[in-house]
Amino acid sequence: PLVLHVLGARPNFVKAAPVVRALGELGVRQGIIHTGQHYDALMSDVFFADLGLPEPIANLGVGSGSHAKQTAALLVGLEEVVQEHEPDLVVVYGDVNSTLAAILVCAKLGVPTAHVEAGLRSYDRGMPEEVNRVVTDALADLLFATSPEALAYLAAEGVPASKMHLVGNPMIDSLFAALPSLDPAPVVERLGLPARYAVATLHRPANVDTAEAAKELVEAVLEVSRKVPVVVPIHPRGKARLAAAGLVDGETVKVVDPLGYVDFLSLVRGAALVVTDSGGVQEETTMLGVPCLTVRPNTERPITVTHGTNRLVTPALLPAAADKALADGAVTPAGELPVLWDGKAGPRIAKVISAWLEGDNLAP
Ligand code: UD1
Ligand code: UDP
Repeated sequence: PLVLHVLGARPNFVKAAPVVRALGELGVRQGIIHTGQHYDALMSDVFFADLGLPEPIANLGVGSGSHAKQTAALLVGLEEVVQEHEPDLVVVYGDVNSTLAAILVCAKLGVPTAHVEAGLRSYDRGMPEEVNRVVTDALADLLFATSPEALAYLAAEGVPASKMHLVGNPMIDSLFAALPSLDPAPVVERLGLPARYAVATLHRPANVDTAEAAKELVEAVLEVSRKVPVVVPIHPRGKARLAAAGLVDGETVKVVDPLGYVDFLSLVRGAALVVTDSGGVQEETTMLGVPCLTVRPNTERPITVTHGTNRLVTPALLPAAADKALADGAVTPAGELPVLWDGKAGPRIAKVISAWLEGDNLAP
């Protein structure tokens, strides 16, 4: 049997690495299809190197565009490659357009699919990712959940329990694997940062796609930077808009290119505070015990608030919340970290997949 992994965007690479490694250890034949949704070296190549991912067997070079144009190109490219390789299972990761396209193509071709990170919900259909999640979970044959509430959300949408598996979080497997290499000192020195600093990442369309939203956000970040210097490894999506709104290199703000995985997590590990609108960064800060302020009205990862260091804030509330977080440090309300975020999600997923390939239905 052959398993294909469809990857396209930065967070996909991080989630897939432990699954690919674990399937390899079980001797499963597999290959990576890179859609080319992310293509800059710092958004793609650096992750393959840092995570030890094998070379893709194909890169579709789909690139950027409107949702329709990008998804259309993904559909055409993926249909061809899936027909060519005739996989027994296609694995998709998270909520990006590459995932949506792969799940649609496979559903129409009758190729079984597995969704890693199933059942996350923000219940905000204004987020393109929420649309992708709902469609993907409706069509996937195997659904791998990172946290217990995801199972309840999926059940409420009519997904049978036989398809669902609570396996933990492969993004945290990658974090644990990188942990021995995470050293803030060289990155802090290279970027010319003081010992006490904050890190900000901002790329959600709702935050960076309009001049008004960008302005409100940038003003809030600049106010935080008057209390603690802020370094912003900037996602290409928000680069121009945030700069136009005033997020430029200054005495207290440092705007840098996106960082590689190990450099970025090293920086986060040494940070006094993280400000973000990323999905994955909410989870990583929870595990690293770094206070995280998420500038969004909702999160599809509520466990990082109930069992982690994450707090949701509006731009208007960000400066005061930053003061409090800097004073309090990392506070984990439940006192315990999310269950099964133990670095072994990849092997759990691989075990279910290999049994499934052999014809077993490992339903709980
Ligand atoms: C995508 C995902 C988002 C995820 C993010 C991770 C969708 C709908 N969104 O958002 O869920 O959080 O990836 O980073 O799939 N660009 C470059 N170089 C690149 C890639 C993109 O310059 O290598 C620029 C282009 O101008 C492009 C823009 O970034 O138009 C947005 O890229 P796109 O792939 O459409 O979505 P992201 O915002 O990256
Ligand atoms: N990340 C990185 N370099 C950066 C910013 C983020 O390596 O400059 C990593 C981060 O540690 C996490 C992943 O990229 O593992 C998250 O990607 P992103 O925030 O782009 O996407 P999201 O999680 O919001 O979908």
